[in-house]
Amino acid sequence: MTVKPLFLFQFCCGNMFKFGFSKGASISRNSLAEILPKGFSTQIERKLEGKVALITGAANGVGKATATKFINNGAKVIIADIQHQLGQDTAKELGPNVAFIACDVTKESDISNAVDFAISKFNQLDIMYNNAGVHCNSSPSIADLDLALFDRVMSINARGVMAGIKHASRVMIPRRTGSILCTASITGIMAGVSQHSYAVSKATVIGIVKTVASELCKYGIRVNSISPFIMPTPFIKEAMNQLYPGIDAQRLVKIVHNTGVLEGENCEPIDIANAAVYLASEDAKYVNGHNLVVDGGFTSFKSLGFPAPDQV
Ligand SMILES: NC(=O)c1ccc[n+]([C@@H]2O[C@H](COP(=O)([O-])OP(=O)(O)OC[C@H]3O[C@@H](n4cnc5c(N)ncnc54)[C@H](O)[C@@H]3O)[C@@H](O)[C@H]2O)c1
Repeated sequence: MTVKPLFLFQFCCGNMFKFGFSKGASISRNSLAEILPKGFSTQIERKLEGKVALITGAANGVGKATATKFINNGAKVIIADIQHQLGQDTAKELGPNVAFIACDVTKESDISNAVDFAISKFNQLDIMYNNAGVHCNSSPSIADLDLALFDRVMSINARGVMAGIKHASRVMIPRRTGSILCTASITGIMAGVSQHSYAVSKATVIGIVKTVASELCKYGIRVNSISPFIMPTPFIKEAMNQLYPGIDAQRLVKIVHNTGVLEGENCEPIDIANAAVYLASEDAKYVNGHNLVVDGGFTSFKSLGFPAPDQV
């Protein structure tokens, strides 16, 4: 058995130490045991061991990255997505601890079936991640708002989340435990970075989390959201391709990444997956009703942009 770089090893008294190895390097468990001081365990920490998670919109992007992380942390995962072939391919790719169920989050019966499928397949549901979402390419002006499109975006991004929480709580309340996650967005907390319909749908998700957490707390169920910054997933690529027809894929990724403020890093699905593992795990056992913003600081500050003294 080899241990990949940057895994965490648990010290017998519970303290955590982080070891870094150069990229691509690996070390056998036996060699590691020789190097480490007595008392260290070479056990790779799996924060979701024995947990069962249902993730909507997990055929692709953030959902797929999170499914991968959850499995690596010991969970069993149900992928629920409207894309049948891609969902099945993803489940196959991720291995035996994953199953796919076709699910359109705008249909309550599909969500109900997905929850029941998790129970019949893996006997329980510990984590419900309402992640499915769509972008919205409509006129930026409120005066031209397409209300049919608004309804559609709301039915997936907001109503779909509400339905997911409803059916997850149906099975979590009797067990008096569970963790519910939802993907919101920075557009739900800061205006001007997306069209109105999408922004309203994501602000609604953050509101849903708070109101539902206020009830479910008495059953020991935590409800939290994650608000990602922009990432070049298929979702954004589709939106950008409409904005810049025929744009080169690498150029598109660069444009997306250049919008960030944190030098040296870009927002990636793995960052959201890591946030989801944290929120779903015991590490966040007292975190509830929270919106975890993963944006490199983008929504925390603005610059006045004063010219340098020698430029005045
Ligand atoms: N990519 C970004 O920049 C960004 C930023 C902030 C928030 N988000 C949010 O992250 C979430 C995941 O998006 P992503 O970036 O991974 O995009 P993505 O397009 O890669 O994944 C979205 C998934 O949702 C699925 N889906 C769409 N409609 C559905 C429906 N009705 N029922 C079930 N599944 C459905 C799609 O098939 C797809 O697999 C979304 O909620 C999105 O709003 C994305």
